[in-house]
Amino acid sequence: MTERPRGPFRLGDRVQLTGPKGRLHTITLTERGELHTHHGVLRHDQLVGQPDGSVVANSGGHEYLALRPLLRDFVMSMPRGAAIVYPKDAAQIIAEADVFPGAVVVEAGVGSGALSLWLLRAMGSDGRLISFERRPEFAEVARANVETYLGEPPANWDVVVGDLVETLPQAVSPGTVDRVVLDMLAPWECIDVVADALTPGGVVLCYVATATQLSRVAEYLRNTGLFTDPEASETMVRGWHVEGLAVRPDHRMVAHTGFLLWARRLAPGAVPPEVKRRASKSSYGDEDVELWTPGAVGDRQITDKNLRKRVREAQRAAAGARRAAASDGDAGEPGASA
Ligand SMILES: C[S@@+](CC[C@H](N)C(=O)[O-])C[C@H]1O[C@@H](n2cnc3c(N)ncnc32)[C@H](O)[C@@H]1O
Repeated sequence: MTERPRGPFRLGDRVQLTGPKGRLHTITLTERGELHTHHGVLRHDQLVGQPDGSVVANSGGHEYLALRPLLRDFVMSMPRGAAIVYPKDAAQIIAEADVFPGAVVVEAGVGSGALSLWLLRAMGSDGRLISFERRPEFAEVARANVETYLGEPPANWDVVVGDLVETLPQAVSPGTVDRVVLDMLAPWECIDVVADALTPGGVVLCYVATATQLSRVAEYLRNTGLFTDPEASETMVRGWHVEGLAVRPDHRMVAHTGFLLWARRLAPGAVPPEVKRRASKSSYGDEDVELWTPGAVGDRQITDKNLRKRVREAQRAAAGARRAAASDGDAGEPGASA
């Protein structure tokens, strides 16, 4: 993996520029690249060799603050096919699913690849991530986004196109996966294959948008008898405005994204001590399933036309990153001025 989060700017780096009136531009540094705005021209070579966090002026004398985007900046601005896992939830997923360096991790669906980037970072180059996605166009968006961010597709990442239920048993040997993260509409449909794939003590974590999904997957997990009693949480992050004596919560926040639910795989044949709890209704019929269709839970589906546009957008960005990385190789040592 070639994440390059520090050091002077080099050709191929993505740089976030904050210009006059706080206007943001994200560029990839290329050998003869230039940023043209109605305020003037900024040459990319003015940035190459400068430390991260520098201020440079364009031909019109207007100043720009240059910073490498953080992973959270990148995922929030990259092309999306499906809704992404927000950084606040990704951080919590890493913690609750206990994603560790060297872990073998399965995720489904890959969607736009936002969570894949966080998982790859947490498990490091000794880990292995296998991401499953049933819609080929979403898999393409995810591959392009990950390549744009890392400069190349990571060697320890496989994307399998297909439904997790059908493809997981062929992709991994039983009992060999350390962690499974499910971000999909109907995670309960995948629990049986996940139980087979997980190593004893391994963690399954589901990220769901609605309380009804949360309840259904919790009951499904319990009824298998193969997992510890599931735990659930939601994460609300409220920003604060801290300036002089004006110290208060921000007026706006992202109030709801989703819930996390996690449980651990028991050893074969293990029966945990009885857990005292009885739900009044813990099984679901066909009529309940209707409640979780995408329309019913208020999920807006991306149109085919829009999705094709996102695929082209993501692939253009990845091609730009590839060209820039190639011209970086031609230019010699990283950090050398162009
Ligand atoms: C909300 S998106 C995932 C977003 C992703 N975690 C991210 O951060 O970019 C849900 C994805 O799951 C996929 N999906 C749903 N059920 C699936 C299944 N059984 N097997 C594989 N993929 C599935 C959908 O096609 C969709 O792309």
